[in-house]
Amino acid sequence: MVLKRKHNLSSQDDRNPASDVLIRWLIRRDMDEVLAIERGSFEFPWTEEEFLCCLRQRNCIGTVAELDHKIVGFMIYELHQSMLRILNFAVSPDQRRDGVGRQMVQRLIDKLSQQRRREIVLEVRETNLAAQMFFGSCNFRALSVLRNHYDDTLEDAYYMRYSLKDSAEAYKPSNRLRDYGADAA
Ligand SMILES: CC(C)(COP(=O)(O)OP(=O)(O)OC[C@H]1O[C@@H](n2cnc3c(N)ncnc32)[C@H](O)[C@@H]1OP(=O)(O)O)[C@@H](O)C(=O)NCCC(=O)NCCS
Repeated sequence: MVLKRKHNLSSQDDRNPASDVLIRWLIRRDMDEVLAIERGSFEFPWTEEEFLCCLRQRNCIGTVAELDHKIVGFMIYELHQSMLRILNFAVSPDQRRDGVGRQMVQRLIDKLSQQRRREIVLEVRETNLAAQMFFGSCNFRALSVLRNHYDDTLEDAYYMRYSLKDSAEAYKPSNRLRDYGADAA
């Protein structure tokens, strides 16, 4: 079952509100905290070498979310000509359901533009229901199933996409009477 946490802090909840989160570039000094979040989040975590190898690529970017001088989330993504691709992304288990992930994704969405990069794509494991729900709530849509996508398990992946085009269409006002042909008379 997926449990929901409340955003307002109770007396037992000593987390800081996620509204105070700072999103900035990942730097080498952050790696220990990033690795701790990675290991607490995935059954098959990336090693430090895998992070560094990825971040050495010219089109690869790392960001972190910092709260009260503590790293509470990270994201690794690639820049492509017409899109951004999320490669790795996690929020610290003790800071989840407080809007940190949404703010990190929103920061990425804010980088899109009609002229250049218009979409964000990623793959989610079929068993990772929380991430599917999360990206769904951020207006990503599953486009296809990638069969046997992983080396470590037999799992399939959902290929998900956020597109400026979809989001513009989602909010396009429509005349429902006209759709039913009511104005034909
Ligand atoms: C996926 C993940 C990054 C989400 O981060 P988060 O900071 O907890 O997400 P947010 O608090 O911003 O959630 C925003 C919305 O997403 C949805 N959501 C997030 N986690 C959810 C869950 N476990 N179950 C159902 N819906 C969820 C909710 O609609 C939520 O809004 P609400 O809390 O007001 O209901 C986090 O769960 C995580 O690190 N998971 C492990 C690593 C992982 O799976 N990464 C993605 C790999 S593709």
